[in-house]
Amino acid sequence: MTFKQVGIIGAGTMGSGIATSLAQQGVEVVIMDTTAEAVERGLAAATKFYNRAAEKGKMSEADVDAASARLTGATDLAALADCDLIIEAIFEEFSVKADLFKRLNDVVGDNVVLATNTSALRVSDLAETVDNPSRFLGLHYFNPAAINPIVEVVRGEKTDPAIFDRCMDFCRNTAKKPIACKDSFGFAINRFFVPYGNEAVRLLDEGLGTAAQIDRVAQDCLGVAAGPFVVMNLVKPKIMFHAQRNLGPHGAFYSIAKTLAERGDSDYAFEIEEDATGKPENDEVIADRLRAATFFPVLQEVDEDVATAADIDMGAGLALRFGKAPCELMDSLGKDEVRRIVSLVTDNYDHQMPVSVEKVGSLRA
Ligand SMILES: NC(=O)c1ccc[n+]([C@@H]2O[C@H](COP(=O)([O-])OP(=O)(O)OC[C@H]3O[C@@H](n4cnc5c(N)ncnc54)[C@H](O)[C@@H]3O)[C@@H](O)[C@H]2O)c1
Repeated sequence: MTFKQVGIIGAGTMGSGIATSLAQQGVEVVIMDTTAEAVERGLAAATKFYNRAAEKGKMSEADVDAASARLTGATDLAALADCDLIIEAIFEEFSVKADLFKRLNDVVGDNVVLATNTSALRVSDLAETVDNPSRFLGLHYFNPAAINPIVEVVRGEKTDPAIFDRCMDFCRNTAKKPIACKDSFGFAINRFFVPYGNEAVRLLDEGLGTAAQIDRVAQDCLGVAAGPFVVMNLVKPKIMFHAQRNLGPHGAFYSIAKTLAERGDSDYAFEIEEDATGKPENDEVIADRLRAATFFPVLQEVDEDVATAADIDMGAGLALRFGKAPCELMDSLGKDEVRRIVSLVTDNYDHQMPVSVEKVGSLRA
């Protein structure tokens, strides 16, 4: 095993899921949170997951006992002193994470590898909060982390390449599929997934179709298992709002759809009709717009070396269940058709056509 003992800070949705997965894969894990109740909740979530897996015949009773025994809880950072990798999964707020890393810096040696599960913050900025930023990187797991195989391994500006490779191996050794990523807002997956959801809301705002219709067209044109409105209701629209806002620095196309912006942080769900017919005369326009909102950021990522086309496709398939992975789909549609579709974004938002459009046909080669 590439790391012997892993500390997880934050026993919430992500921390408990990561801990569940690692302990199941044979790693000793210490999970830490600020209160005993939070730690207990995190450990209970792991136990529940293992028991369900046993009921389904996916884990033996002995495996359940062994995985549970590898998990311990703590409310004090000092309990992480013997860990050789520590993954932070606390609130998504720079000052809160920075304060934690500064305190952690004083508790653990400067050779201990430190990782953040941030979705929105710059890994390179967080790395500056500790001595020796070369041992700092992003390990961005996807929800539900206990089962979702994708992890974006994010290279900060100062991350030591050997530590980066070690973490890639660690992910592979713990049954995950790592995607090597540059430190860029949205990394490899949210960079296109969030704008695709945002575009669905724009289509609804413009009255081009109903939510059920847009979901139906998305299933057809991108092969998604569930359409954007079903997924946004699961993720929560307010999370999509924050995620889209985080992509703002990438330019005008990444502005927030009207409804998402107006409703902001409020708790709501999109109404999805029973009948998915909507306005069938607009099916083609909707398909073009959803594909454009997916293809454009993906091509920009390839331009910027955020991740490889093959890894983006792997993430789309495994993390998001896109039946038609974007690069493979672009390759099959061909350069002219992709150029036509992507110009819906470049013309409307005054962006440059990504130069990678020239590679369409062999994006994954
Ligand atoms: N939820 C998702 O779908 C998802 C997916 C990928 C990444 N992320 C990222 O993972 C991180 C955690 O998200 P979450 O959804 O698990 O949040 P959460 O609110 O479910 O859990 C956060 C936990 O951190 C604890 N915490 C807060 N400050 C702490 C501190 N100083 N020391 C120790 N524990 C502390 C809280 O008590 C809470 O239990 C965030 O950065 C988020 O952006 C979330």
